Amino acid sequence: MGSDSEIIQAEDVFLTGGRVVLRSLTPGDLTAWYAWFNDGEVTGAMNKGIFPNTLEAQCDYLRHLMESKTDLQLAIMSKEEGRLVGVIGIHKIDWLHRRGDISLIIGDRQAWGKGYGTEAIELMVKHGFERMNLHKITAGMWSSNEGSRRSFEKAGFVLEGTLKENYFRGDGYQDEYRYGFLRRDWESRGREEPA
Ligand SMILES: CC(C)(COP(=O)(O)OP(=O)(O)OC[C@H]1O[C@@H](n2cnc3c(N)ncnc32)[C@H](O)[C@@H]1OP(=O)(O)O)[C@@H](O)C(=O)NCCC(=O)NCCS
Repeated sequence: MGSDSEIIQAEDVFLTGGRVVLRSLTPGDLTAWYAWFNDGEVTGAMNKGIFPNTLEAQCDYLRHLMESKTDLQLAIMSKEEGRLVGVIGIHKIDWLHRRGDISLIIGDRQAWGKGYGTEAIELMVKHGFERMNLHKITAGMWSSNEGSRRSFEKAGFVLEGTLKENYFRGDGYQDEYRYGFLRRDWESRGREEPA
């Protein structure tokens, strides 16, 4: 573990995978969390980083999340490194149509490419279908975001559509890919996997 490692309190663990655990966000996460949105490398292929983020704004957002009945956002903790590496959420939860949209950021660049993003998606999807009784989970990403696209595809999401030139970046407009995952496809996928 690095010198900045935290202890993962067993009592805080909400969802457990092989590489990551997901737990509630706390005020102690704010300093790392808010700074990710000021890191141009992290926000390079997502719709953030246009205005500076502040600790106060992140604090307000955490308060909003605590009250919200249409968002579930959790901290992603690396088990190996014992520290916060990102956040994942299901947002815009529609309790009538039983849908929600996933957002994901592995803000710690040292933690990219270790399978954390994919596993966090898998844990959130399982929770969304098994415990929140969602029917469908969606996600969107910029066409240039290869890592995000691959992570969602590995977790089982399928491309449903393309919103043409939906986002501007310095080098031009980018399409947005819209992905979806139906509960019945998630269930049959589980049955296909070897025991
Ligand atoms: C995109 C992101 C979520 C991916 O998470 P991650 O933990 O690094 O991804 P994983 O390690 O689970 O990798 C999943 C797959 O994507 C591939 N991948 C990851 N980053 C990649 C990149 N930058 N380019 C191409 N492929 C990439 C991996 O190789 C892996 O595929 P493989 O198993 O076939 O080799 C993470 O890099 C991130 O948060 N980036 C910054 C913020 C962001 O873009 N968030 C998403 C907004 S939609």
